Amino acid sequence: MSLEPFRSSDDYAAAYKASVENPELFWADISSHLKWQKPWDKVLQWDFTKPDINWFVGGKLNITENCLDRHLESRGDHTALIWEANEPKEKAKKYTYRQLHAEVCKFANVLKKNGIVKGDRVCLYMPMIPELAIATLACARIGAIHSVVFAGFSAQSVADRINDSNCKMVVTSDGLNRGAKQMSLKKLVDEALEQTTSVEKVIVFNHLDWDPEMKSGRDLWWHKEMADVSFWCPAEEMDSEDPLFILYTSGSTGKPKGVVHTCGGYSVYAEYSFKNVFQVQKDDIYWCTADIGWITGHTYLLYAPLMSGITTLMFEGVPTYPDAGRFWSVIDKHRVTLFYTAPTAIRALMACGLDHVLSYNLHTLRVLGTVGEPINEEAWHWYNMHVGKERCPIVDTWWQTETGGIMISAIAGLTPSKPSHAGLPLPGIQPVLLNGEGKEIEANNEEGYLAIKFPWPSMIRTTWGDHERCRLTYFSTYKNYYFTGDGAKRDENGLYRIIGRVDDVINVSGHRFGTAEIENAINQNKGVIESAVVGYPHDIKGQGIYAFVICDKLPENQEHVREEIYETVSSQIGRIAKPDKIQFVSGLPKTRSGKIMRRILRKVAEGEISALGDTSTLLDPTVVEEIIAGKL
Ligand code: WTA
Repeated sequence: MSLEPFRSSDDYAAAYKASVENPELFWADISSHLKWQKPWDKVLQWDFTKPDINWFVGGKLNITENCLDRHLESRGDHTALIWEANEPKEKAKKYTYRQLHAEVCKFANVLKKNGIVKGDRVCLYMPMIPELAIATLACARIGAIHSVVFAGFSAQSVADRINDSNCKMVVTSDGLNRGAKQMSLKKLVDEALEQTTSVEKVIVFNHLDWDPEMKSGRDLWWHKEMADVSFWCPAEEMDSEDPLFILYTSGSTGKPKGVVHTCGGYSVYAEYSFKNVFQVQKDDIYWCTADIGWITGHTYLLYAPLMSGITTLMFEGVPTYPDAGRFWSVIDKHRVTLFYTAPTAIRALMACGLDHVLSYNLHTLRVLGTVGEPINEEAWHWYNMHVGKERCPIVDTWWQTETGGIMISAIAGLTPSKPSHAGLPLPGIQPVLLNGEGKEIEANNEEGYLAIKFPWPSMIRTTWGDHERCRLTYFSTYKNYYFTGDGAKRDENGLYRIIGRVDDVINVSGHRFGTAEIENAINQNKGVIESAVVGYPHDIKGQGIYAFVICDKLPENQEHVREEIYETVSSQIGRIAKPDKIQFVSGLPKTRSGKIMRRILRKVAEGEISALGDTSTLLDPTVVEEIIAGKL
């Protein structure tokens, strides 16, 4: 008898118990839902100290067979993908499973024709258009490792990511639409490639008819390459532990790291978590608003919904274009049943008033989800009342790029959904709260560091090219635990509430940035000697970026220097990392050993001046007064 999908709270409880008592049996059962080219020999081999984690050992599969081929017979004519363009007037595009399969196979053949083989890295830097989904799946089809870079990152960031994993190819488009703005992506790729040597071919999709410069011998048009290839391409046989993709994410050190996910475990966990958390039904029309450039887009826009055989919707634009009713109009237009978005979007739309949301018919909605950052109670209630009309369960899903899939969340309608609480762990996930000494806190109503004590199939395997960094970041803080970097509280019923990061990572609108990464960018600005960046509460973004900056002399025209700093951060990282506030200071609070006391800066930025604590151990306590006096 199969343990899932769960259809009652008793099913959930029984599955949870089974997953802890005999994890291997539990996962063996769940893995049997997938199509394997060769069955695995052993469910799990693991050692967190190295870390060395192997799931479904010896098994062979291809995730695209699970996303596409296995539905062809029974649901080949069912819509797999709906694409809604930036402009509401533009007709939506639809692909059936059969059509998507053909496009993926064709592009897989284009990759092959251009020398890409299993294990090669391919960088995808594209707008939210169907071709991004097709290119991603095409890589997986032939076993090339995709590295999708969000199209809001700068040329420098693209270059860094290409170089870190030696990508052999880039797939891009002439330009992109984002609301009222347009951007030339191809130009940024050209700029990035001046700093790289590994890229041999660039494939360019003609999205906006911009006629970009094409470098002969290197740059190729998507449509020309697709014109004469076959629409059948066999799915490469992939070992469970072969890498499926790299996705770069920020940590507390300066350089983003390439989180590596592998084929078997990721596939199993993506489908399992999705079907259960959202209580998916076969005719669901599901919309995840995340960009494929982030993990949410990978797992829950692309792979999991396709594995589940339902219709997934992909949207090119932004929530506020042409007006703040766009999300609701798209739900109405396409009769969306499951909707998954970020708290920051909910807060932004909430601030635009009720008229927009009340103008549309949202009665098709069945389940609402949130992801990426804590959701405040006010936004939760607004979402529940005005979007879900108090009849759609809300799943507040906690997880990370490194976890590959949802870890702690309500199971829609079955387990408790409490405002601002992610809730209970999914069966198979064993979270713990640790105290400062690394001891497990058993009691409820306590707060601690959130860690996971047993492996799960879609966990990070390594950081590309630097395994030691993976060990140090996630597996060394607490021996024999995966450390999440988050703080959390467990309520009297065992529901988890995520408090936020306890490391130097800021979560801006659900996007992670390391403070060091932003400081490095600011410090490149002429005249800047040193800087310190902290997060502070921001009404819409969740956290805003507050930068304290020391210049060689206090700038006469501060606005001018601020503009220059914005420019530097935009070109080093991307506009999304632009500081919200820049305060010029003559010094920073440092200990006698020279370490910046960020705790003090954080309190100042938060406006909690009375809670600064002891400042007498600082090298120069007077700088604190100056910083308080100049607070923005
Ligand atoms: C935060 C996004 C509170 C958390 C999937 C985590 C959340 C980081 C939630 C990972 C949530 C994510 N409630 N906080 N439901 N979901 N976070 O890698 O701090 O972009 O560590 O993955 O976002 O961000 P990432």
